[in-house]
Amino acid sequence: MTSRKAGPLKGTASVPGDKSISHRSLIFGAMSIGTTKVTGLLEGQDVLDTAKAMRAFGATVTQHGPGDWSVEGVGVGNFVEPADVIDCGNSGTGVRLIMGTMATSPITATFTGDASLRKRPMGRVTEPLAEFGTMAYGRKGGRLPMTVVGASDAKGIRHTLKVASAQVKSAILLAGLNASGETVVIEKEPTRDHSERMLVGFGANLTVDKTKEGHVITLQGRPSLRAQTVAVPRDPSSAAFPVCAALIVEGSDIFVPGVSQNLTRNGLYITLVEMGAEIEFQNPREEGGEPVADLRVKFSGNMKGIEVPPERAPSMIDEYPILSVVASFATGKTVMRGVKELRVKESDRIDAMARGLEACGVTIEEDEDTLIVHGMGPGGMPGGATAKTHIDHRIAMSFLVAGMASQQPISVDDASPIATSFPIFESLMTGLGATLTQG
Ligand code: S3P
Repeated sequence: MTSRKAGPLKGTASVPGDKSISHRSLIFGAMSIGTTKVTGLLEGQDVLDTAKAMRAFGATVTQHGPGDWSVEGVGVGNFVEPADVIDCGNSGTGVRLIMGTMATSPITATFTGDASLRKRPMGRVTEPLAEFGTMAYGRKGGRLPMTVVGASDAKGIRHTLKVASAQVKSAILLAGLNASGETVVIEKEPTRDHSERMLVGFGANLTVDKTKEGHVITLQGRPSLRAQTVAVPRDPSSAAFPVCAALIVEGSDIFVPGVSQNLTRNGLYITLVEMGAEIEFQNPREEGGEPVADLRVKFSGNMKGIEVPPERAPSMIDEYPILSVVASFATGKTVMRGVKELRVKESDRIDAMARGLEACGVTIEEDEDTLIVHGMGPGGMPGGATAKTHIDHRIAMSFLVAGMASQQPISVDDASPIATSFPIFESLMTGLGATLTQG
């Protein structure tokens, strides 16, 4: 797909449902008694793969209309053994949360995924799960395909996270649901808290103590989860693409309704404002249990590069690729430190952005844990390159956004991964005035 310099972007960008909350609504629904109703579900491939997996473990998952789904759950500890391999496609969240969910049931399941997911480390999840007695047999380096043998009669564990990861935290909590006694997870750096919020909503006894050690999350095992109605809010990580496009395309003025202001998700928006972005946060309110605001975003020709505080990383971990595009159109350098987790996402995102932006004429510095972008000012990026997307939706969308403001068009070698998280990206962006063409 190729993106060329667009006229001003105008109009309303209504982005799809949140990916993290969509996965969780299906998984928690499957572990509950009764019928969970979900509206606004993201129908991206990642979430569809989780829906298929929940069916394989015994839940009845039904689509009633666009975004309108129901899940008839089997209850905590009642997953059945799947008759076939569970293919989670491109989704790290899907596979890691589902591994946690079955880890304390006396069943065995084999997991696989696409070429991107098969490269990603699963040891970060299977090591803490081993403390429950769960066994996992994967390829070298803890890679998929992997067979997980659930523990019988597991007891709760106390675990301090080694990496700031909501996926690992959630996998342990989900395993703790079918363990006796308390499971305690301690996270030094707060990560997205959707599992904690939603588990309480589904009736689990879960508390979060904010201590000097970090967040201490305590879950009582073997609750009876009750089916809920979940209204999935829009995805702030998807909203980031039209928002950042409007900031760099001259004359733009767009409205983006219902963007999460959850403090564990809004790091990008804080960073953009610090850079001098013109974003108005209107009508703050609650939607689907999340704090949200409507955003009015205007072209911002005076953005300056900044040093992004490393402790902000967990709240904007998926947004560094698009931030590095905005940084290319700012004046001065933007320094992103403490970002080595980006190397184990759907692709090595530091490498993918560095190589692609360099090909577009931007000066980049990088090391294992750092990405530095030397901004070229508004309209300064030459472009005229093809970026490799490495089966990574966010890399594809980031370069297509860059092409809307660069001097020459920018192409991506494969736009198909966009369907994992933002299936309406092309129509939504062209509706605002972007020029995207196949080939
Ligand atoms: C997610 C957690 C994050 C994030 C991913 C979604 C989740 O991953 O990058 O897109 O829904 O829990 P990590 O837990 O690996 O940081």
